[in-house]
Amino acid sequence: MDRRAWWQTAVMYQIYPRSFQDDNGDGIGDLRGIRRRLPYLCDLGIDAVWISPIFPSPMADFGYDVSDYTGIDPLFGTLRELDALLAAAHADELKILLDLVPNHTSDRHPWFQESRVSRQSPRRDWYIWRDPAPDGGPPNNWRSAFGGSAWELDPRTGQYYYHAFLAAQPDLNWRNPAVRAAMHEVMRFWLKRGVDGFRVDVIWHLLKDDQFPDNPPNPAFRPGQRPDHAVIPVHTTDQPEVHEVIAGLRRVVDEFPDRVLIGEIYLPIDRLVTYYGRDLEGAHLPFNFALLDTPWEARGIAKLIDEYEAALPPGGWPNWVLGNHDRPRIAGRVGPAQARIAAMLLLTLRGTPTIYYGDEIGMPQVPIPTDRVCDPFERNVPGIGCGRDGARTPMQWDATANAGFSTREPWLPVAAGYARDNVERERRDPASMLDLYRRLIAARRRSPSLRLGHYRPIAASGDLLLYVRECPGERTLVGLNLGGHTVPVTFPGGQLRGEVLVSSGADRDGAISQGGITLRGNEGLVMALAPDAVVPPSVV
Ligand code: GLC
Repeated sequence: MDRRAWWQTAVMYQIYPRSFQDDNGDGIGDLRGIRRRLPYLCDLGIDAVWISPIFPSPMADFGYDVSDYTGIDPLFGTLRELDALLAAAHADELKILLDLVPNHTSDRHPWFQESRVSRQSPRRDWYIWRDPAPDGGPPNNWRSAFGGSAWELDPRTGQYYYHAFLAAQPDLNWRNPAVRAAMHEVMRFWLKRGVDGFRVDVIWHLLKDDQFPDNPPNPAFRPGQRPDHAVIPVHTTDQPEVHEVIAGLRRVVDEFPDRVLIGEIYLPIDRLVTYYGRDLEGAHLPFNFALLDTPWEARGIAKLIDEYEAALPPGGWPNWVLGNHDRPRIAGRVGPAQARIAAMLLLTLRGTPTIYYGDEIGMPQVPIPTDRVCDPFERNVPGIGCGRDGARTPMQWDATANAGFSTREPWLPVAAGYARDNVERERRDPASMLDLYRRLIAARRRSPSLRLGHYRPIAASGDLLLYVRECPGERTLVGLNLGGHTVPVTFPGGQLRGEVLVSSGADRDGAISQGGITLRGNEGLVMALAPDAVVPPSVV
């Protein structure tokens, strides 16, 4: 019997709700739109959906500035509509995860409104207030991720408050037990409603050094890089005590059966894996974003997989991410041909994969004209490539006006190529990206070795990345060509025997291979190995 938790064998899918499906014709996606598209998600074969924030918000950071943790923003719908979505999704055996944003609130949140009134406010200590430096300036050199000082002077009380992101997103003080208790109640509110878990926003930011020392300058910083990289955030993120806070969040999740806690963490692998927590009491899945930054090159990727596999704590379950609403689209980064190989990599590695909406139809990174820029990061720090709008454009459903996303001009422009790259067309094309995703997800669902097997690297040289996933009784070989030229793969002794389960070009599925295979340029194959096939420890 398979005793794994559902989130270990699941394929996750991130929805950026503003851009998935508009149902009420205001140019912005909503909950009813998501509900309408559940059949699509079922057909794709995914198991769980994480929805970026849908709570009431002034939208300074498009929902990551929450002004009420237990409501739904009218732009997206109502609590009843969320209940309806949960019921419909559960009827289809789809799990729904919400996005918990505990590090900061909106400056319009009643907690902050109360906190800022006076130094004696009972909620003063719910946020991080400090006196000015002797010269009247900010208390220290801490930087906001979106540019400038992380301290904002509030003239009413003459103190500064800390904001790791926008000034409209004051950080909560997680050293205050009352803040922890309040956020735990928020979690219970949603878990009782039937939500299957949370993706927790910037979880590695929750605590900051309570002595408030300056962060050291970053000697590697060069002009043109994002400005917060001018200092190294040793005192503002990844503080050792944060693990105890996360264990507290985890305990709340564990009060309910079968829920999952996923943490957003951008750290090097050796630090990232500490977020599983002592005795795995932290996040079930600390998001692994390593593929987002790694150069698209076989040896580097193989090294990264080895490093990650080796760093995992005993019992820690791996996971992989290729894209999200903060990073450039994979198809933009590696090109449309290699985006297929990336899909094959994501869905055949060991661990839970998360698909970013639209990547499954090959959505591109969309150039955003200056007058259409919405992202506050790009507005604050223009022109150096920080903008996130290009990865947040409307889902391309069909070739009609606005790509079938909305009856009205959408909040962000639709990609120019939507008449070709859209769900309606791709679902009828067996060689499409959508069909590739569908075939890969289906193969993963059918194959115990792909779902749960060990990962064994075989070769990483030139453009070839070759590995085996194996479990008792089944072995699956994955061969990926990361370049445009033909790559022959022959095992010494010619013992490579098997059947192609999924070919990236859709023209070799079912092919039987004896002796060797040749990967065409930009081609990837997933093969079921014959029981007597001999796989050498490594080939070059
Ligand atoms: C996370 C979110 C990002 C947001 C930031 C501040 O990184 O993914 O979109 O801007 O947190 O909440």
